[in-house]
Parts: sequence; structure tokens; C-alpha cells
Amino acid sequence: MEVVIVPDAAAGGELIAEAMTALLRRKPDALLGVATGSTPLPVYEALAAKVSAGAVDVSRARIAQLDEYVGLPAEHPESYRSVLRRQVLEPLGLAAGAFMGPDGAASDVQGACEAYDKALAEAGGVDLQLLGIGTDGHIGFNEPCSSLASRTRIKTLTEQTRVDNARFFDGDIKQVPHHVITQGIGTILQARHLVLLATGEGKADAVAATVEGPVAAVCPASALQLHPHATVVVDEAAASELKLADYFRHTYANKPDWQGI
Ligand code: F6R
Repeated sequence: MEVVIVPDAAAGGELIAEAMTALLRRKPDALLGVATGSTPLPVYEALAAKVSAGAVDVSRARIAQLDEYVGLPAEHPESYRSVLRRQVLEPLGLAAGAFMGPDGAASDVQGACEAYDKALAEAGGVDLQLLGIGTDGHIGFNEPCSSLASRTRIKTLTEQTRVDNARFFDGDIKQVPHHVITQGIGTILQARHLVLLATGEGKADAVAATVEGPVAAVCPASALQLHPHATVVVDEAAASELKLADYFRHTYANKPDWQGI
């Protein structure tokens, strides 16, 4: 796993948007896996700026959703489908046809989960999956003790995650759904490149457990240690509990320029 310590969230966004740009130049119809929440916003802003500047053509890019609330209609402003339409598709000028995601409003939730895993495979798999991390180490909505082999399925959110996400629902935890569909950890590990972005001191313990702790289901993000191409991009605050921070700084500073992340 490569750990890149950046000065701030904007620098992390720029670095990851640059990796996405390089990927899209090599593979114009790349399937980009995207996350929601606050952390990825600098990535989406930096990528949209590159598109506006004509630095990359995203007209054939495809976007895949990581997770979705169960029970919110697709048109609900806080369904992740709506959020990603506002934060990713519209700024990049992509049509709805470029987007794939699980159906959180399906009456057969299990069937919707299986259909989404199948659709991802049929689409050729995710080329680059952007991940955030929960304060409890979750990726997607694979909460602690999720199977490291799990596939897309329904999960129950922890109270902590519902508290964390209440800010998107007028601060009212009662409005935050209890259930989600999430790509499983096994599903996520099938993406060709995993890029986890973590910013802020609140993520420092989870980042240390992910990078320097054992591979253990109690910290779902530690599964990134099993992936042959996983990059963890952290700002100084999120890196503050890393014992090997100086080593990570040294290796990144001395990396060949052509290599990218
Ligand atoms: C949401 C997702 C979650 C978030 C995590 C961090 O699609 O995948 O794992 O990445 O809850 O959320 P923020 O970035 O809001 O701190």
C-alpha cells in the first residue's frame, strides 16, 4: 500500500484528480468508482476544473456508485444517486446513461444487490475506486466486522455513522435511514486501483489502523492491505497518528516522476 501525505484536502483532491485524468487519457471509457460524503468533494472539484480547462475528455467516462441508502426514492435530494448527479455527473457534463448504481428503492433489495454486483462485472469492473473512510474504519458502508470477502449487500448503519451523516439531513438523525446497500469489501477489492482519501484529525485513528494495524474485519479499510494497487492519500491531520509518517514522506518524495500514484 502506498501512503501519500499531502499538505491539505485541496492538494489531495488535485493529486487524485490527476490520477483520474491520466487514467482517462489511457482509457477514455474508464469506469470510475465514486464515493459520497464530504471528503471526495475536492477530487470532484479538481476533476471538473480539468474538464473545463480542456485538460481531459470525459465524454466516454463511466461512473459507478459505491453505496446507497435503502428506502429513499432515487429523486430524494440526499439519495446518493441524487448527490452524485449534482457533485459528479453534472459538473463533468455526463449524461445519466454514464452512471450505474444499485436501486435503493427496490422492493427486492437482495435481488438489487446481486444485480449490481453482476452489472459491475459485466461493465468490465471498476478501473479506479475512490474511497472515503468512516471514523470507525468503514469503507463504503462496510461497518466494522463486515466480512472481508463480502459482496454487495444490505447493511445496517451504526449509530455513529447515522450521527455523522445527520448533517446531510438537517441535523435530524431520525431522517437518516438505518439501512444501506453497499458494495462489499470483496467487491471493492476487485477494482483495479483503490484510492482512499482521508482528511482531518477525526480520521487519524482510523487511518493508522488501516495502514499500520493488522488486516482485520474490525477495521474494514485494513482490507486495502490485501490489494496489489492501493493508495492512501491523507492530509497532515489525518496522518498525525502514523508511526511511519516520515518513511511515507521519504518514499513518495523519492518516487520516479513518471510513476504517478
Ligand atoms: C459514502 C461512503 C462512506 C464515506 C465515509 C466518510 O459513499 O463510502 O464510506 O466515505 O462515511 O464520509 P465523509 O467523507 O463525509 O467523512
